[in-house]
Amino acid sequence: MSKYQLDDSPIYIDGSDIPKNKLDITSSELIHEIENNLLIEAYEKFSHELNENTKFDEEYFVNIHKKTFEALYDFAGVYRTVNMSKGNSQFCLSEYLGSQSTRIFTELEKDKYLAICKDKVEFAKKIAYYQSELIALHPFYELNGRTLRLFFDLLSIFNGYKAIDYSGSIDDGKYIEASIDCVQYADTTKMEDIIFNGLSQK
Ligand SMILES: Nc1ncnc2c1ncn2[C@@H]1O[C@H](COP(=O)(O)OP(=O)(O)O)[C@@H](O)[C@H]1O
Ligand SMILES: [Mg+2]
Repeated sequence: MSKYQLDDSPIYIDGSDIPKNKLDITSSELIHEIENNLLIEAYEKFSHELNENTKFDEEYFVNIHKKTFEALYDFAGVYRTVNMSKGNSQFCLSEYLGSQSTRIFTELEKDKYLAICKDKVEFAKKIAYYQSELIALHPFYELNGRTLRLFFDLLSIFNGYKAIDYSGSIDDGKYIEASIDCVQYADTTKMEDIIFNGLSQK
């Protein structure tokens, strides 16, 4: 049983799993379709704007969530103020979101946005590590997974790789299994495999 009840969340329409939205949509199918379209547009926009001066800092990460979903949701680009868990995984307590986020992005900056990596093995390990940190952070009310995967796709492109191919791992539950290991056991082994297999040179 999740410690986080949908009913306690300020973002959902009462008694449903549909977030309150600016278009007053109450159909789950329609909301997913619109979210997917917004995400496709965001991939185009952010890949197009990407250049050698792009900084993969906290502001950029938050801005991806904001710009992608602000046409639909008031919570776009806003950190949650409630604690959240999924299954037995407790994400970062809301009071520590700011400090933990600063820690993660400061580390990524010191790693020169992964320009320090000498080969694909090292790059995949680093991506898995930072991805696992952001999965455990879970800073937004919703759309964390899609936002952080877009962020790491852009970071991969920035470093001479293609967007990461998660086909297989997302649909067959392996990505969630890897996420559980990251959040509950700080074990990134499964995530490293997923990332390594999904990475290819441009
Ligand atoms: N039981 C779990 N334990 C740990 N992490 C989980 C669990 N279930 C889901 N996750 C993580 O949370 C993400 C989903 O978060 P969510 O905010 O709903 O994003 P999205 O709507 O884009 O999928 C998944 O991609 C996964 O990384
Ligand atoms: Mg979700």
